[in-house]
Amino acid sequence: MSSHANDPAGSPSANYAELTAQVKALVAAEKDRVANAANIAALLYDGLPEVNWAGFYFYDGRELVLGPFQGKPACVRIALGKGVCGTAAASRTTQLIADVHAFDGHIACDADSRSEVVVPLARNDGTLVGVLDLDSPRPERFDAIDQRGLEDIAAVFIASLEHA
Ligand code: SME
Repeated sequence: MSSHANDPAGSPSANYAELTAQVKALVAAEKDRVANAANIAALLYDGLPEVNWAGFYFYDGRELVLGPFQGKPACVRIALGKGVCGTAAASRTTQLIADVHAFDGHIACDADSRSEVVVPLARNDGTLVGVLDLDSPRPERFDAIDQRGLEDIAAVFIASLEHA
């Protein structure tokens, strides 16, 4: 049985193809970071099952600061290297956390969160922009298909910042 039996909309990769196409359409004519992040957070929160938080943290040159999101209020500042978000930002690698309780240093913003995926956001020259973070109340909610889909969406977001 596929781990995506919970996804009534069809195959998970098809779902991400559709979501990525919607993200491209949403940011096509806009380069404002807050506007694009806000729409992407809303789209992901609304479009993905079993997600209780979806949003952005932006790097201010010193630490991560809360950006546009959907879900319960969250911690505002996260130091690089701290929590799942700070680890993704510092290592520039996606963090796929099956059980947040087993992640040493996890920062609990919503006590319901049990699994998490955080994608680092960096420009092509390596400049850190921030992270894209999704939480789920179900352990092991996110897998490699989610990771690839969210990395694609993160790349569309980064490209939108470069629009003329
Ligand atoms: N859990 C994250 C903090 C952000 S909230 O999940 C929205 C972390 O450990 O970095």
